[in-house]
Amino acid sequence: MEIKQATINDTFTLPCGAVLSNRLVKAAMTEGLADRRNHATQQHQTLYRKWSRSGAALLLTGNIQVDRRYMERPGNIAIDGKQPKSALIALTQLAAAGVESNNHFWAQISHAGRQTPVTISRESVGPSNVGSRLSDYFGPPRALGSAEILEIIERFVHAAKIVQDCGFTGLQIHAAHGYLINQFLSPDVNTRTDEWGGSLKNRARILLETTSRVRSVVGDSYPISVKLNVADFHKGGFVAEEAVQLAKWLSDRKVDLLELSGGTAEEPSMFLANRDHLNEERSTPIKSSTIAKEAYFLDYARQIRAVTSVP
Ligand SMILES: Cc1cc2nc3c(=O)[nH]c(=O)nc-3n(C[C@H](O)[C@H](O)[C@H](O)COP(=O)(O)O)c2cc1C
Repeated sequence: MEIKQATINDTFTLPCGAVLSNRLVKAAMTEGLADRRNHATQQHQTLYRKWSRSGAALLLTGNIQVDRRYMERPGNIAIDGKQPKSALIALTQLAAAGVESNNHFWAQISHAGRQTPVTISRESVGPSNVGSRLSDYFGPPRALGSAEILEIIERFVHAAKIVQDCGFTGLQIHAAHGYLINQFLSPDVNTRTDEWGGSLKNRARILLETTSRVRSVVGDSYPISVKLNVADFHKGGFVAEEAVQLAKWLSDRKVDLLELSGGTAEEPSMFLANRDHLNEERSTPIKSSTIAKEAYFLDYARQIRAVTSVP
């Protein structure tokens, strides 16, 4: 029997049952368009209405922050605490603009942790007090207490419920690019000795707990994605073997879509065209010509694909 190769135009059914009308996705791109109260604006609506007409089956918002004290940049949307009616109306209007062509529109939720610019907060927070090398840009982090970590998980849950109520058709938990959840995963940044640090299971606890808690409030039929680093691409950071293990654990938590990326603000692999440094982690070097030709993180995606059925 001849097996038909899927094309980019074919529909795709996610594990939760939601159907994407094709395989084109617009990844998260921070907009910086929120107003001074960190609410969505008309400019967001204009942008996502236009992207909705692009034909992509799935659009992701830029990172929406779960704590305005620790944002990725001024102009992020923040959903924290009780939202005034005007904020909920603005989010609902944004969600409506982004699904105008009946495409999916998912909200990416995030906490910047130690990658909070000093212009937002002189002191940042992180799993430990290990500061970024980019200390002119990011303030020194204070190590979070256990109660604060539990509170941050609840902040993700709160934001998840609000984006669902406002009409976003799914959500993505940002666990990549050196932001807070990624910081917990990275052994060089997370030097804790309690249940949130040490073994991979402990370092991954914040992500796994967040994912499970979010799933419990949004229900089984609502799409949840996790954006995960395949590696941090610096010595002592989160590595590919750990990403493979983590992908297995995430699939047990009913994740619908894993987006694989890599790097941090210190090592921005996600933006580098020359990926020769990736060879530091491999026994058989990949030829630069191959790296140049291949899609981003394709080799790592294959390793993860081999151990999980999560798209
Ligand atoms: C202008 C710009 C803004 C971005 N903002 C975000 C963001 O808010 N959240 C995020 O996860 N990634 C963000 N990214 C990264 C992209 O989503 C994507 O991960 C990156 O371009 C590399 O692609 P790759 O991850 O497939 O390698 C941004 C990229 C660009 C170019």
